[in-house]
Amino acid sequence: MTITACVFDAYGTLFDVAAAAREAAAEPDAGVLAEVWPKLAEDWRRKQLEYSWLLAVTGDHMDFWQVTQRGLEWAMEASGISDPALHERLLALYWQLSAYPEVPSMLQALREAGMQTAILSNGSPEMLAGAVQSAGIGGLLDDVLSVESVGVFKPHRSVYDLVGQRFGCAPEAVLFVSSNGWDAGAAAGYGFQTAWVNRAGQPMDRLPWQPAHVLNDLTRIPELARSL
Ligand code: LAC
Repeated sequence: MTITACVFDAYGTLFDVAAAAREAAAEPDAGVLAEVWPKLAEDWRRKQLEYSWLLAVTGDHMDFWQVTQRGLEWAMEASGISDPALHERLLALYWQLSAYPEVPSMLQALREAGMQTAILSNGSPEMLAGAVQSAGIGGLLDDVLSVESVGVFKPHRSVYDLVGQRFGCAPEAVLFVSSNGWDAGAAAGYGFQTAWVNRAGQPMDRLPWQPAHVLNDLTRIPELARSL
């Protein structure tokens, strides 16, 4: 079925989530972060996602900015770092993450092919607006959809419902793109056409559903979307 909308996960897919720790580690007063930033970035991301899943399972909710702050607190303690100024610096950098280099031209090509483009993310509307603005891609997106309108995190199916509600299209007319294997897999289970952007060469998640397409980065997304 022809793809009419191409929908992207945000963090890790369009925006480089390791950039905050990497950039802070390169600053002159980085201290121990200069050594431990890869572990800190990995712990931060893992805890952020674990907390989002646990909240979704229990039916509790706090927004993704709160989850991001708590994940960072855990990651800093795990690395033996107690530094409130660094905590604030890392959060400020997270608010203004840059997009991967191929993102603007990729979105432009999708729009030139007549497809609608959007973000569907766990992020709160405010943090997504910050990232979209700092990456300068607002003019290339038809919408930015946040889980906050349903109050539960991915992969709850009510989140994926937001796409059909917004664009009025069938799930199979949507190409959903995520760098998170679990997100791309769950979206495939929902009925979207899916691409997993596996930048790190990770193994496929052993979940009940699998993404149909696996790419190394976003460069070939327009070609894939046109071919479906
Ligand atoms: C998001 C996270 C899961 O943007 O990466 O939804």
